[in-house]
This record gives sequence, C-alpha cells and structure tokens, in this order.
Amino acid sequence: MTPYQDWDPRAPEVLADPIAAYDRMRERCPVAHSDYLHHSVFRHADVMRILQDHTTFSSQASRFVSVPNSMDPPEHTAYRAAIEPYFNATRMAEFEPTCRQICAELVAALQHNASTEIMFGLAHPFALRMQCAFLGWPKTLYEPLLQWINKKNVATLSGDAHAIAAVATEFDQTIRDLLKVRRQAGDQAPDDATTRLMHETVNGKPLTEEEIVSILRNWTVGELGTMASSVGIIAYYLAAHPALQDQLRHDPSLVRAANDEILRIHAPLIANRRTPTCPVRVGAAQIQAGERLTLIWASANRDEAVFGDPDEFRLDRDPALNLLYGVGIHACPGAPLARLELEAMIQALLAGTRHLEPSDEHPPMPAIYPASGYRQAILMIRHDD
Ligand code: HEM
Repeated sequence: MTPYQDWDPRAPEVLADPIAAYDRMRERCPVAHSDYLHHSVFRHADVMRILQDHTTFSSQASRFVSVPNSMDPPEHTAYRAAIEPYFNATRMAEFEPTCRQICAELVAALQHNASTEIMFGLAHPFALRMQCAFLGWPKTLYEPLLQWINKKNVATLSGDAHAIAAVATEFDQTIRDLLKVRRQAGDQAPDDATTRLMHETVNGKPLTEEEIVSILRNWTVGELGTMASSVGIIAYYLAAHPALQDQLRHDPSLVRAANDEILRIHAPLIANRRTPTCPVRVGAAQIQAGERLTLIWASANRDEAVFGDPDEFRLDRDPALNLLYGVGIHACPGAPLARLELEAMIQALLAGTRHLEPSDEHPPMPAIYPASGYRQAILMIRHDD
C-alpha cells in the first residue's frame, strides 16, 4: 500500500469479509483514499448529501458512456423517461405470472432433505431465467451470460481498463446478434421488452444501436449481478434466522419489509460512482473537480448514526432511510422488478420448504469484489415428504 492510501479495498482481509472491513472504515476514516476506488464515502449522511446534489456530484464518473447511469440532466432526464415505463405497474403485473412460475419451478427442483449449494442451485439460475424471460431472450444465452458476468467481475477487480473494455465488447456482440435477428424478422419479431426497446425514441430520435446495447448491458448487470447476490444473501439469512422464517411463513405480508431490511444489513450491490464538478469538501476530505468518489452502499446502509446496531433486524424502519435502491434522480428504475422477483422467490422458497438451515460443516464463502453476497453457500433444505 502506498503511503498516501488510507486503505486497500483489495487487501486480503477486506476481500475476506468486506462488510466488516467497511464497518471499520466508516468508524476510522469515513472518506478514505485508495488508488483503486479513489475517495470512498462510507457514512450515510455523506452519501445522502451526494445523491441529493446531482449538480455538484456528476454521474459522468467513467470514461465509458452508460445509458442512463453515467448521464446527467438534461440528457439523463430524457433517457430515464424512456426506460421507466418498462418497470411500471402494468408491465410488472404482466410479468408476475411468469415470475412466480419460474420461482415455483426452481424451488421444486431443489433436492429434498439434502445439502444444496444455493448460488449455483438457485441464485444464478433464478437471475438467468428472470433476465431472459423479462427481455424475451433464448435459453441458449444462459451459459454465455453467466460466463460473461463472471468475466466482468474479474476484469473490474483487476482495474485493467483494457480488460473491462474487452468484456463490454464481448457482451455487446451477443446483444447485437439478438437485435439483428429481430430486425430481420421485421413485423414477425416477438412483442417483448427487447423489441419494444428497438422502437423507442428519445427527444424524437430512435435509440441508436449503441444506446440499446448500453441500456441492455445495465439491465443485465442489475439482474445477473445484483439479483443473484440478493437471492443468495436472503436465502442464507433466512436459514440462519429460523424465527424470521417462521414469522414470514405465518404472515407473508411481512415479506416486502423483510426483503428490504435483509438487504440493508447485507448489501447485494457494493458501490456506485460520482465525480464533483467543482472543488468540494466531503467529510474531512477536500475533493477536486473530476476526481472519483465511490459511494459505498454496503457501508452507508449500516451506519450506526442512522440505524443504531447495523445488524439489528427491524421491520419498522423508515423506508426513506434505506439506500438499497439509491436516492434521487438515479434511484434504481428496476426496483419494482427486483422487488417483484425477490418477494416471489422468498414466498416460493418458504412455501415449498419446511425448514432451511445453514451447513455447520461448510461456512459460506464470500463473493469477491465487485460482487457481493456469497461465492458459495450451502444450506440444508428440509421438506415434508
Ligand atoms: C436487488 C437488486 C437491485 C439493487 C439493490 C439495485 C440498486 C441500484 C442502485 C443503488 C442504483 C443507484 C445507482 C446510483 O445512484 O448511481 C441503481 C440504479 C440502476 N439500476 Fe438497479 N438495483 C437492482 C436491480 C436492478 C434491476 C433488476 C435492473 C434492471 C433490470 C436495474 C437497473 C438499474 C439501472 C438502469 C440503474 C441506473 C439508473 C439511472 O442512472 O438513472 N437494477 N440500482
């Protein structure tokens, strides 16, 4: 570690238990510099202030344009308006039966009264099937998409810009092929989210192929990265907290609040970036225009100053304080889809099993940054046979 670094986000002790490491940083150095993440912001109040001031804190914090993630108003406003309807109540109601069917099939396929590795037995298949069903993509993409998200995570951890660009290009080609098939099909193209996106306009102009691919890449990262992590985190948390399992089995109306609270305690998405447009102070740190800020969701949502004991599970917390889906103009547009899918999965898992238990012999292995949650988590799944 070079002398001017406050911490090393890729140090073995950080990667071994990232949440505990971020907890320590929030206390020790709430705005911390590192070569890899530049200025990491750990406290809830600082993150909230940055999210609510998108004029001072721009989202153009990467050399790659990402629609709409890396855009600022007014450009962001127009693109955001084009994608929001894909997650509105009508679309969610249309998707719900398919979503519940997928959950039921995945839970039915879990081995009875046996140890099951839930990342590859449940979480990744869940995310792949949901993604392809929501966008109208073929099952033949399951394997390439799974490999792609793994390669993307490896490239991000390496910090190698060329590797990151190469992985993005690989994904783009897969999507361009899908778009080509739809273009060739003309009127016969399926009526699904991907085809609808191809006919979308922003400021009166059709989306370019680059823009469509970028939108789909961001949705894919949301689904395959964050949703798979969420399923692993939730399933393991329920297994480790039998009283909560019983409570939710008895009263499924509590699932919404429980879902958001579990993912507050253990974030499925570690961080996002911003860059100041002018010199600005954040906490004790003076940040120059153009420098990078990394907002650590996995820390801010555990800040004692707001939540008291970060590990205390409570169903009566103020939802406005939970940063799970962000705050402000970039708040997650996919949140209605994420909630629908996760709630359907929790309900199917609890309804289709009698009891979930963590394995005594095999403690869970943490995912490696930038992924969150688990690389491997083994549960004993008990059914009534
Ligand atoms: C549990 C699952 C998810 C979590 C925790 C999550 C969390 C977040 C957060 C915190 C942000 C704000 C980023 C920022 O302020 O820079 C965000 C933005 C975004 N999310 Fe999600 N997300 C999830 C699932 C999804 C899904 C399923 C999709 C799409 C299919 C999606 C698409 C997006 C997009 C496009 C943005 C950028 C919005 C903008 O810049 O205006 N997310 N998400």
